[in-house]
Amino acid sequence: MPKVLVVSGRELEELLKPGILVDEIEKAFILYSSGLTTTPPRTVMWVEGNWWGVMQSYVPNYGVGIKVVNVIPANIERKLPTIQAIVTLFDPFTGSPLAVIEGGVLTALRTGAASAVSAKYMAPELRGPIAVVGTGYQARYQLRFVSHVYRTDEVRIFDVREEAAEFFKKHAEELGFRVTKCRSAQEAVEEANLVIEATTTKTPVIEGAYLKHPSHVVSIGAHMRDARALDDSVVKKAEVVVVDSREAVMLETGDIRIPIESGILDRERVYELGEVASGRKPGRLSKDGITVFKSVGLAIQDAATAAVAYRLAIERGVGKFIEL
Ligand SMILES: NC(=O)c1ccc[n+]([C@@H]2O[C@H](COP(=O)([O-])OP(=O)(O)OC[C@H]3O[C@@H](n4cnc5c(N)ncnc54)[C@H](O)[C@@H]3O)[C@@H](O)[C@H]2O)c1
Repeated sequence: MPKVLVVSGRELEELLKPGILVDEIEKAFILYSSGLTTTPPRTVMWVEGNWWGVMQSYVPNYGVGIKVVNVIPANIERKLPTIQAIVTLFDPFTGSPLAVIEGGVLTALRTGAASAVSAKYMAPELRGPIAVVGTGYQARYQLRFVSHVYRTDEVRIFDVREEAAEFFKKHAEELGFRVTKCRSAQEAVEEANLVIEATTTKTPVIEGAYLKHPSHVVSIGAHMRDARALDDSVVKKAEVVVVDSREAVMLETGDIRIPIESGILDRERVYELGEVASGRKPGRLSKDGITVFKSVGLAIQDAATAAVAYRLAIERGVGKFIEL
């Protein structure tokens, strides 16, 4: 019977440091935008009012990964994670199952790594404070990964929940940042050169009028067709708009779909992260411009991250084999 490696979230944290994962995620995005992966759009279903997704991908050199993930906003009150998931990794040639990996931490790690790739190419010479709007679970990983490529010691934060802002402040201070807690998203954003939006909002929290020149906006929230985290003027002001997948953002976020459909944003002007990382499209046009990276999350990130975790876990004797 096949033996499957079980890897916990805690073990993932140890295995997948930004110095390793950012480069691997960059390679996976290049493979994706070169048409070399097999990545059908994720299947979404609604269960008791909550979003569930099944995300599958074959990424050559990595493996076949399938993730089952849900987003349960009411879990905040239950003291449970908003996002829970499991990723299974398979050998692409034999089809054998290789690993079962905790997916909540994996999701946060790979989402942070994608944002870091965007900062690497879209904000290479920018300096100055980072603003974090929405300081929940993802935000902690976003800050850790983005600050791996974007050097600053100053962070400005805003969350509608005081306890979330306070918890994040302590966390960021432990990482060595000087943290300013702001009373509004505008106050956080208007002094920042890199803006991270990581909220669960459905209506815009970042307005173009808040943005400073130059700046780079990373937006990971608003993952439903009609949901917005950015108002129209954000993409209107941007000299470059980059997404993880043109196909996915048209299906899965109002932030790009609505401005394209209403003619505010030209589809031809929306590039993919893999196109920018491979040098086929520019990540930034001028020193003073505003750039935007919008991600909804792609199965290639899960498959590649699971494969890297599996390889490192075997090398380092981490995880537990079980016989199925
Ligand atoms: N793009 C991706 O690949 C990807 C991956 C994972 C999660 N996400 C998304 O990231 C977002 C955050 O997820 P999480 O796990 O950190 O959730 P979370 O519940 O832990 O944190 C979200 C935070 O946003 C705050 N918030 C909500 N509305 C706000 C507003 N209007 N202004 C300021 N703060 C506000 C909440 O109070 C909360 O603290 C979700 O939208 C999730 O779907 C995206």
